Amino acid sequence: MLRFKGTLKISGDKSISHRALILSAMSTGKTKITNLLESDDVMRTLNILKELGIKIIKEQDTWLVYGNGTNGFIEPNEFLDCGNSGTTARLMIGAVSSNPINCTFIGDKSLSKRSMSRVTQHLEKIGAIVHLTKKDYLPLIITGSDKLIPISHKIQKASAQIKSSLILAGLNIHGKTKIVESIPTRDHTERLLKYLNVKFKIKKTKNKLTQIELNGPYEIKSKNIEVAGDPSSASFFIVGALILPKSKIKLKNVMLNTSRIAFIKILKSMGGKIKVKKTKKLCGETIGNISVEYSNLKGVNIPSSQSAFLIDEYPILSIAASQARGKTVMYGLEELRYKESDRINSIVYNLKKLGIDIKEENNNVLISGKKNQVKRNIKVKTFDDHRIAMSLSILNVLYENKLIIDNKKCISISYPDFEKHLNYLL
Ligand code: S3P
Repeated sequence: MLRFKGTLKISGDKSISHRALILSAMSTGKTKITNLLESDDVMRTLNILKELGIKIIKEQDTWLVYGNGTNGFIEPNEFLDCGNSGTTARLMIGAVSSNPINCTFIGDKSLSKRSMSRVTQHLEKIGAIVHLTKKDYLPLIITGSDKLIPISHKIQKASAQIKSSLILAGLNIHGKTKIVESIPTRDHTERLLKYLNVKFKIKKTKNKLTQIELNGPYEIKSKNIEVAGDPSSASFFIVGALILPKSKIKLKNVMLNTSRIAFIKILKSMGGKIKVKKTKKLCGETIGNISVEYSNLKGVNIPSSQSAFLIDEYPILSIAASQARGKTVMYGLEELRYKESDRINSIVYNLKKLGIDIKEENNNVLISGKKNQVKRNIKVKTFDDHRIAMSLSILNVLYENKLIIDNKKCISISYPDFEKHLNYLL
């Protein structure tokens, strides 16, 4: 039987890679970015920034970004194509909104079904003019302004993309922009801004909500950025090592931001033998090494209060649950419906096909795990969703390649080196 072994350096984090490019484009001066994740999604952001007049070149392993300031985007001649990337679309819509230019954003079939009004409703309130397809979707045309109004925004949905979009807009708004989050989400934008010496405040409101207060416009001085390893990419190999008997691996250079590694706590509560060792700070984030050994997992309840911090890891957590003793219940997964695929549907469809007892009730997913082996070839579907494709690929190691996975190409959206790294650990 196959097992995972060895030490691997994980590829750069997707969320930080987008932000490193955008914030260096909005700085003044040259930024050197190293360990940038060169995935399809991140390249969409990079190419859109080029369309907006930013010079970006690669020299050996380093990307050089020549920033034009927070008000430096020029009107593009082409449509801005976000491909499959929700982060590109939502963050870039915010970034261009405080520049007096017209931009048309487009995306692929999947992205064109994902809500953009969750961002633009806030931008319209402060003076941007937006035309959406069917009031919610791409293609959209935005007319930005350098006279957007500083107000206090309240974000109801748990979404780091909405928050980051409003922060990026606020960097070039004259006066105080406040952003209050009802539910805390990943905070990479805030951390990177602090690293770049941008002066803004984060405090708790009377109701204990997090409030970000910007006082723009800002001039950001460029500073080199090294991107930390992606914990969401690491999660696939961590679960792989937990479910493949006799496995033992060490993953290096992984970002350990608490808003991103909640899945490790969950896996530990399932009985997973995982050790995390912090090593240093890197551009505002803590990084370290993660050691994992094969473990006998048991089912757990995962409360909905955790869902914003587990949003990208539910597919691989479902694979862990499918191989655990007893029942796992994952509560409050509604936001999964609005990802690259309807991930509740994608998870339930595939695990059912494999004979796993799984059901969905009111956006909660119940899985009764069992260590089954598939005896014949079974066709499974990625729904063109990179995280579903990688989750199935991990299970396929356990099932000795009996799964026929329909489209693995989509993995390049977030982790082009996934297959290479998987084979390296075998
Ligand atoms: C991201 C935020 C998350 C996550 C996505 C990346 C980001 O989406 O699912 O993969 O970089 O801000 P939300 O907007 O739902 O938090």
